[in-house]
Amino acid sequence: MLKTLDIGKIRSETPGCSAKIHFNNAGSSLSPQSVTDAVINYLTREQEVGGYEAAEEAKYLLNSFYVEFADLLNCDESEIAFIENSTRAWELAVHSIKWAHGDQIITAENEYGSNYLGLLHIAKRKSLDIITIPCDEFGVVSLNQLEKSITSKTKLIALTHIASQRGDIQPAPDVGAIAKKNNVIFLLDACQSAGQINLDTKELKCDFLCGSGRKYLRGPRGTGFLFVNNKILHSLEPIFLDLYSASWRDSNSYEFVKTARMFECYERNVAAMIGLSTAVQYLSKLGINAIEERTSRLSSSLIAGLSELKDIKVLEKSRHRSSIITFTKGNIDAKILRDELKKRNINVSVCKQQNSQLDLGTELTGDVTRVSLHYYNTQQEISEFLQALEEIR
Ligand SMILES: Cc1ncc(COP(=O)(O)O)c(C=O)c1O
Repeated sequence: MLKTLDIGKIRSETPGCSAKIHFNNAGSSLSPQSVTDAVINYLTREQEVGGYEAAEEAKYLLNSFYVEFADLLNCDESEIAFIENSTRAWELAVHSIKWAHGDQIITAENEYGSNYLGLLHIAKRKSLDIITIPCDEFGVVSLNQLEKSITSKTKLIALTHIASQRGDIQPAPDVGAIAKKNNVIFLLDACQSAGQINLDTKELKCDFLCGSGRKYLRGPRGTGFLFVNNKILHSLEPIFLDLYSASWRDSNSYEFVKTARMFECYERNVAAMIGLSTAVQYLSKLGINAIEERTSRLSSSLIAGLSELKDIKVLEKSRHRSSIITFTKGNIDAKILRDELKKRNINVSVCKQQNSQLDLGTELTGDVTRVSLHYYNTQQEISEFLQALEEIR
């Protein structure tokens, strides 16, 4: 049975809730107090006893990072790496594949801008081809076209689960099934879905999955993670090494660590890593299914409210929507709208057309306003937001 979330308690544990209406969770959500406490306590210990000594003391806490993520993603602890952000995790994955001249990468037109830049970059350096699959009238990648595009040269399918600029949820398990059937590596950017919807790496049939800590997971900034399927580890070659991710055998040889930690670097922000681990623990106690149910209910209510306002054009097209909702209001510039809302104590963000050229750029939407809800947001906040939005002309 689905757990019921105690929203009053959750909000009392989230100091940021009392000051503002925070609808920028896809940018960075509000951390629970326990996360901030974990970070500060650890930093205090570093100050008191020294960085290496504090890390030694916190061994158990550091190990719990892998345990928590393995539980969250239904995978093995050895398949998890701590990386400082999602983009870097994504790049480490892509660059670890052994590319051959003329290999092909398939992606979709909703791909996150930094990822697409990364694809252009590696395609140029390694002479690869990029095929971009369009999204259909329901905002989801055309599975038919995707499967038809696979050739003997296809080595990677890179998909963004929920785009930054559009909240439709892509059919990741179907894409995973196609990738598996055709023996193609599947990399899922779960930056906006981790912490918002249930992610089961077995169901998704993915080889890599990356995400960020500060978004729906409610961790600190400067944190992220990478899942690497054990089944493909042996075929990968990380581009960066240190004495933690590899061992130095003799003057001419070295060996990679045989787990996802071959993508990690020894030196890292230990306090932030502990903070993210604490955030995932917090999430697990609430239950991802209860979170998914609540955010979906809140976003349906917001969409219904927006549909009653004049001049609002919502960009999401599918029925499988997340809690990211993007829209334009008449001719009002998205940045002006954001700033006006800010004056009214409401945080939203702007997605630039320039940064999603294959998506917003094709539709010529201009920059769009993004509202991204989390489970600690309330119906009352949605009503206040709708009223403010109506007043701004
Ligand atoms: C879909 C998606 N992927 C990747 C990223 C990049 O995440 P990070 O800033 O942690 O590198 C974002 C950030 O907004 C995103 O929305």
